[in-house]
Amino acid sequence: MKIGIIGGGTVGQTLATGFLGKGHEVVIGIREVTDAELRKNRNGARPLADWQSGSGGRVVTMTEAAAFGDVVVNATSGLASLQALARAHPADLTGKVLIDVANPLDFSKGMPPFLAHAYTGDTSLAEQIQNRFPEARVVKAFNTVAANAMVDAAFVPGEHDLLIAGNDPAAKDLVTALARGFGWANIADMGDLVGARAMEGLLPLWIRMWILANDPRVNIHLVRAA
Ligand SMILES: NC(=O)c1ccc[n+]([C@@H]2O[C@H](COP(=O)([O-])OP(=O)(O)OC[C@H]3O[C@@H](n4cnc5c(N)ncnc54)[C@H](OP(=O)(O)O)[C@@H]3O)[C@@H](O)[C@H]2O)c1
Repeated sequence: MKIGIIGGGTVGQTLATGFLGKGHEVVIGIREVTDAELRKNRNGARPLADWQSGSGGRVVTMTEAAAFGDVVVNATSGLASLQALARAHPADLTGKVLIDVANPLDFSKGMPPFLAHAYTGDTSLAEQIQNRFPEARVVKAFNTVAANAMVDAAFVPGEHDLLIAGNDPAAKDLVTALARGFGWANIADMGDLVGARAMEGLLPLWIRMWILANDPRVNIHLVRAA
């Protein structure tokens, strides 16, 4: 499968490497592909030049990544995701599964960040992406776990769950299959894309668990009576 990842930070690179390891063709999209951009430090992620030279994947523009993928992933800073995705031609997203892993976190007051008000209440980032690209099949997934865990469920020890939400059952099935390839046994379906409100709303809890544990190997496990 061809996978176009929009966003070249830790998450974009981790997912890209994970998908390449499963035999997919992968590109990472950034705003401008220049030597300086390839060498830039994106919030502690390794330079994309290093990723590109060793991985078998390519770095392209965000516009090209959207056109390339049969599946497209939004791995951009949550507050900039709508701006980033605006670089995609809407026709290039028509009918495609668009996996949204981003969280609309506001770091302007330092750590811990808070959920940006524009994406809370009766909305979420994923729903706003779906509204902006009505022909895309948006699936919220992977946003509630650390980047390493996205591509290796065993990164977090014991039983724990990956959450997923979206309006298109077939799109969710595809994302579920990709996640199973990364070792996810427990995948909890949060229903339609309104479920993304709860998934994005989980982030303050996840970040608090991470800070208190001083370790990103934390996650939640759902226990149900039925
Ligand atoms: N880190 C984790 O463990 C983790 C776990 C779960 C979910 N997430 C979520 O995953 C997403 C990606 O996180 P990350 O740490 O990998 O990367 P990030 O630093 O949050 O975002 C990096 C990407 O955002 C793009 N970007 C930033 N401002 C932009 C703008 N104004 N217009 C267009 N694009 C812009 C950058 O483009 P350029 O490359 O062109 O600069 C870059 O590719 C975030 O939403 C985060 O909340 C992260």
